[in-house]
Amino acid sequence: MRLDAFRRRAWSRSRRALVSATALALAAGGMVLAVAAPASAARVDNPYAGAEVYVNPEWSAKAAAEPGGSAIADQPTAVWLDRIAAIEGVGDGMGLRDHLDEAVSQAAGQELVIQLVIYNLPGRDCSALASNGELKADEIGRYKTEYIDPIADILADPAYAGLRIVTVIEIDSLPNLVTNVTPRETATAECDTMKTNGNYVTGVGYALAQFGAIGNVYNYIDAGHHGWIGWDDNFGPSATLFAQAATASGSTLSNVTGFITNTANYGALKEPYFAIGDTVNGQAVREHAKWIDWNRYVDELSFAQAFRQRLVQAGFDSSIGMLIDTSRNGWGGADRPTGPGPRTSPDAYVDGGRTDRRLHLGNWCNQAGAGLGERPVAAPEPGIDAYAWIKPPGESDGSSEFIDNDEGKGFDRMCDPTYEGNVRNQYNMSGALPNAPLSGHWFSAQFQELVRNANPPLQ
Ligand code: BGC
Repeated sequence: MRLDAFRRRAWSRSRRALVSATALALAAGGMVLAVAAPASAARVDNPYAGAEVYVNPEWSAKAAAEPGGSAIADQPTAVWLDRIAAIEGVGDGMGLRDHLDEAVSQAAGQELVIQLVIYNLPGRDCSALASNGELKADEIGRYKTEYIDPIADILADPAYAGLRIVTVIEIDSLPNLVTNVTPRETATAECDTMKTNGNYVTGVGYALAQFGAIGNVYNYIDAGHHGWIGWDDNFGPSATLFAQAATASGSTLSNVTGFITNTANYGALKEPYFAIGDTVNGQAVREHAKWIDWNRYVDELSFAQAFRQRLVQAGFDSSIGMLIDTSRNGWGGADRPTGPGPRTSPDAYVDGGRTDRRLHLGNWCNQAGAGLGERPVAAPEPGIDAYAWIKPPGESDGSSEFIDNDEGKGFDRMCDPTYEGNVRNQYNMSGALPNAPLSGHWFSAQFQELVRNANPPLQ
């Protein structure tokens, strides 16, 4: 496996050198100039260590235009390639090359990470509707040739060899094949289809193989969050499935730098006022508090660190690192508890002390009361490569009512504040903010609430 990894990297280096020499030869009318291709450094263990991170000028301008937004407008956020058209740029928007060119200029000779979200699988987001995507369940061929291949071609351009390119691989995909398929009562027909046709696994493997062949790309697979795969029934099977996907389509485990948790979700990084092992009046909160409901974890950091170990057990290299999306999991502001809840019952204790104030852990759309979380930082804790802002704060998770569109966005009632829920959130209210635009569109009121409820607070 290691030898294979070495070969892939060596091959990709020589491919790049070749492409570059050819380009120069063409530019010089056939004369090969004596200009060396930019050397690509070997992959480092943690790409974020000692590096700046790309600030997306488009997000930054929107943030800066909001009241209070200038305090965070210079924070790095990810670029989402959420449809084929995003590669060239939607409307007047920047395309992938524009972002990479801008990244080269922001780097100014220093190490710089640019974060790209690869998000366009066939039958995308099979358990929800707000981000269904443009490719039908069986369009794996288009995924490869019209989406992954063109992105890989651009990333392999020698002009970008000096960047550290982080790819977040396909959120909303693999964990669905564990939790939302038959015979679980949470199954959806769409997730059953994606499990049966194998296209999530094939697509993820293909993306990893293509990007893994480029020496300066760092692949991080989406690993859900503690409120999704923190239960024993989901934890091990997810790790096994990730190993299967990472070895599909000719990929090997060594194409994986790590995993990311909490992408676009709201799970608290640390719950300071209760722990999974606590008991109240002799009753274990893990078993008796409805909020926890037998989960093994109460927050993202403990989950991410434990899941890293489980992934290594499943075969991934012991050098893998985790990212945690902390863009919207701050839960600060006036309603944040300042100490543990009363020890009158497990529910009173956990509900009184928890900083994550969602109505249910399964709620995911435009959550009312949320705040910005930890600012992006490299290597904050053992096993964690970085806290990162992957979901750009201020971009909606989905519309609160049906809005016609040509972006492959459906209407999911989990984004409707009047919705009384479904089996996946145990029939709780959705907790979503009202008047939200389509997923990915700017949601000013949400941005302003995130700023107000930031934790740590903004200076
Ligand atoms: C949307 C994408 C958007 C992304 C980031 C997703 O929910 O489907 O269109 O780019 O969020 O905001």
